[in-house]
Amino acid sequence: MERSTCDVKELFASYEEEIRLVEKELLNLFRSSAFLLPAIGNYILRSGGKRIRPLFLLLSAELCGYNKYPRIILASIIEAIHTASLLHDDVVDNAEVRRGKPTAHSIWGNQIVILVGDFLYSNALRLAVQQKNQKIMEALSEATTRMTEGELLQLSKIGDPDVSEEEYYRIISAKTGALISAACRVGAILGNVSEEQERALAEFGMKIGIAFQMADDILDYMAEESELGKRLGKDLEEGKLTLPIIKLLRVCNEEEKIQIKNILNNTDSLSSEDFQLLSRLFDKYGVIKKSLDIASSIVNEAKSTLEVFNNSLAKEQLFCLADYSLYRRY
Ligand code: IPE
Ligand code: IPE
Ligand code: MG
Ligand code: MG
Repeated sequence: MERSTCDVKELFASYEEEIRLVEKELLNLFRSSAFLLPAIGNYILRSGGKRIRPLFLLLSAELCGYNKYPRIILASIIEAIHTASLLHDDVVDNAEVRRGKPTAHSIWGNQIVILVGDFLYSNALRLAVQQKNQKIMEALSEATTRMTEGELLQLSKIGDPDVSEEEYYRIISAKTGALISAACRVGAILGNVSEEQERALAEFGMKIGIAFQMADDILDYMAEESELGKRLGKDLEEGKLTLPIIKLLRVCNEEEKIQIKNILNNTDSLSSEDFQLLSRLFDKYGVIKKSLDIASSIVNEAKSTLEVFNNSLAKEQLFCLADYSLYRRY
């Protein structure tokens, strides 16, 4: 399937009004008399974010013919769950910068930020319960559970040079695929479409989530730091083996393997030479291109799951956002 030639900026612009409402609902989810919650909510909201998950939900709902206000509420719930996971993830990953700004925990400390993340997860699910839709609750609670499992599985593989591509898929399906899958599935549930169509949208979201995380992992090595809004090389520093390195370890020669393992054993004191060596090996074996090719074929698979829907503007827009998930710069 071809990469669509859409303008993703235009797409976001055409949903701008709804995304603004999603952000308003998101801020509401921080409302509390508890210490610091609204202040931290304001800080996070002002720092932005692509809002790609809410847009997946809105477009999926649109595809399924549902355009009432609860889609805004559910999109804000999805973004709140994403936000909570980032708050926790940045503590786990020791990240100093996110969206071009100091991370919340580097300002308020780990204790407060972990609790704010807990609050946000549970408040988001509380708001979801109020929607009184059992299937939606199932989709959201399942995704939230799987995300944490994914992060834990990832931790258990830190620094392990033997981690397989299959284990990598398992990690990223859970930590990132599950939520984008839920976003798309909730759109289908709202539209009350057939089981088959609901499953198709869930699978579409899962595949896009996997490709999205692959792109994130490639960007961690190659992006323009000022554009990415996160510090480059974080994954290696944390001992996180992602697709490019996993592929490299499979194809390089013995001597190179030893060099890479040495780097993995000394992630506390990584030097620019280490990154230069990796970048040279990435080039030598074409692993970035190979990784992008894999992600791109996953995006194509995702698109073909939507064959059970007639063609429409919403479907085209979902394809556009699917391409953007991979070919983005931040
Ligand atoms: C970052 O997600 C975490 C991953 C799953 C890779 P995004 O890249 O969607 O982050 P924001 O919300 O746009 O900042
Ligand atoms: C994504 O993983 C985090 C979650 C899905 C919670 P990363 O650790 O790669 O995300 P970034 O790079 O910090 O945004
Ligand atoms: Mg992280
Ligand atoms: Mg990352």
